[in-house]
This record gives sequence, structure tokens and C-alpha cells, in this order.
Amino acid sequence: MKFSHEWIEKNPWLLIALVIVVVSIGGLAEIVPLFYQKSTTEPVAGLKPYSALRLAGRDVYVREGCYNCHSQMIRPFRAETERYGHYSVAGEFVFDRPFQWGSKRTGPDLARVGGRYSDEWHRIHLNNPRDVVPESNMPGYPWLESAKVNPDAVIASMRALKRLGDPYTDADIAEAPKELAGKTEQDALIAYLQEMGTLIKAKR
Ligand code: HEC
Repeated sequence: MKFSHEWIEKNPWLLIALVIVVVSIGGLAEIVPLFYQKSTTEPVAGLKPYSALRLAGRDVYVREGCYNCHSQMIRPFRAETERYGHYSVAGEFVFDRPFQWGSKRTGPDLARVGGRYSDEWHRIHLNNPRDVVPESNMPGYPWLESAKVNPDAVIASMRALKRLGDPYTDADIAEAPKELAGKTEQDALIAYLQEMGTLIKAKR
């Protein structure tokens, strides 16, 4: 049989093999350089791994599925930067495991929500969003106000992240129970939100 496009298309296994070859070349050319580029591997100035309290808040964020409605990724378009602030850069997410970029925006992007509202606003909003934004369709999370943070879980997370390369010191881990003493999951979530995206400031 003559070697032709038709012949390839009629041979599913050959087609699969060739598709894999073509896609891998494209993938390698696009993705591999990112592992070596400074702008994608170096943390932005001042970036530190999450403190115990913020890490606990981030775990609440993941557990409650906030990412189903909120992205954390400001794209470099005028419409986005006018609304949310400086576009997101890779170096801001070095300690995000797993990252929460998302793409579903039922609610606004949260990448630079840190400092935009007071802690008190967040408390009211998390208990019942309609108390501050009457037309909101975000669900309330009132149970976070009484749930206490479990220090053992946070310490286990810090140890795991340290093993993956996050620069936590033994002292950071030893201090964690003190930072978490008496804190609720709501305190932790707000601490997480309030520092979000604050290392890069741009006029809004
Ligand atoms: C069903 C979709 C949905 C889910 C799930 C959701 N939100 Fe929202 N969120 C919204 C919508 C819609 C708004 C805009 C109206 C408002 O401010 O309440 C919003 C607004 C916000 C704002 C204010 C943002 C701004 O810039 O004004 C914050 C902060 C926020 N959400 C945090 C959270 C957190 C934390 C969680 C998880 C505990 C969460 N949201 C879960 C839909 C959602």
C-alpha cells in the first residue's frame, strides 16, 4: 500500500503513535523552556511560604470549593487589569500547591483581593454574603466561624510542603501551634484572603 494520508487515517494505532509524536514535540518546545526561565521559576520579591494560619485558611478555601466560583489568575488584558489590578505573574505562585488559578468566574477573580476589604467585611460576607452585597448569589459559610483550626493537620501540611522543597524551618513548624491557638477556620481563611496578591501593587 502506498504511504499516504489516507493510509495513516485508516490505521488507528499508527495514527495514535504519530499524534503522540507530534503533540510531544509541540509540548516540549512550549513547556520545557518554562522550567528554566527565571521569570517563571523565581519567587517574586518578598514571597514567603504560607504562614501556619494562612496555610490553614488555604486548606479551608480548597475544602470548601471556593475555586468553583473564583479564579486566582488575572490575565494581562486591559479589562482585567483595570478591574483587578496588576496581572498575575508565575513567581507569585511558587508556594501554591496545588495552585488555585481556576478559570470559572461565577464570582470575581480573587488574586488581588488582599487588603481590598476589612477583616470585619469578610466576616459578615462569609457568614452571609447578602448582608453586604444584597444581590450576591455566593453561599454563606457560617460554620467556619465556630470551627477551630486543627494544628496537627496544619503541621502535617507544613512537613509535607517542606519535603517538597518549601523553605519552612523546624522553628516555623514548632511555632505553628502558638500561631494557631484559639483560631477559627474563619480567622484562617480571612488571613489567607487578606495577603492574597499583595506583593505586587499597581495603580487600580
Ligand atoms: C456559587 C459561587 C460561589 C462560591 C462557591 C463562592 N463564591 Fe465568593 N463570590 C461569589 C459571587 C457571585 C461574588 C460577588 C458578590 C459578592 O461579593 O458576594 C463573590 C464574592 C466574593 C468575594 C468578594 C470579592 C470582591 O472582589 O469583591 C470574596 C472575598 C469571596 N467571594 C470569597 C469566597 C470564598 C473564600 C469562598 C469559599 C469559602 C467563596 N467565595 C465561594 C460566588 C461564589
